[in-house]
Amino acid sequence: MKKLLFVVGSKRKGSFNRQLSLMAKDIVSQWAEVEYLDPYQLPFMDQDCEFPAPDPVDVARKAVSEADMIWVFTPEYNHQIPGAVKNMFDWLSRPLQQGDPNMVSAVKGKKAILTGVGGGKRTVFCRTALKELLEFISMEVIDGEGRGFSLDRRAFTEGIWEPGEEVVAELKEQAELIKKSV
Ligand SMILES: Cc1cc2nc3c(=O)[nH]c(=O)nc-3n(C[C@H](O)[C@H](O)[C@H](O)COP(=O)(O)O)c2cc1C
Repeated sequence: MKKLLFVVGSKRKGSFNRQLSLMAKDIVSQWAEVEYLDPYQLPFMDQDCEFPAPDPVDVARKAVSEADMIWVFTPEYNHQIPGAVKNMFDWLSRPLQQGDPNMVSAVKGKKAILTGVGGGKRTVFCRTALKELLEFISMEVIDGEGRGFSLDRRAFTEGIWEPGEEVVAELKEQAELIKKSV
């Protein structure tokens, strides 16, 4: 079994991005084990507390090191990456050893793929920025800016989203891309 690490960029109980991640988990269940890494468990980045790193940072690094790929499901907040997601990757970008001239981090060379559900722009601003961030910290992003989906009116008014077949089809395409590259 391959190991996939899922990151959901929303803390909300009724998160549609979490709903999306559960659909993806189901799709990969035949060949991958899924673990979740919650970006909201990490403290704010603080260079005064890097060595030794806080426990939640160690937990995050271990989860990343054991994963074949990170799959991020995230909304965009004001056309940006949600703060907790950015904060998590800031921590993960940092060297494991103080003063390491090679700056070896937990995410160096690690593969990632992006998906998001939000408003009419389908989280494109967030996914574009996230791709740039992850590549800057030496990760390998597959499937470009990834896939984005648009919530309908009912999702916003009643909190219920019923993803159509095209959502499932695109998640399946992403799952196939992952399978080929891990
Ligand atoms: C602070 C904030 C800013 C938002 N900005 C955007 C935005 O720029 N683009 C967008 O499509 N949706 C935006 N939304 C709406 C989210 O897409 C919507 O709340 C979505 O359901 C959040 O994802 P979740 O269901 O996984 O929590 C914003 C929501 C919040 C709370």
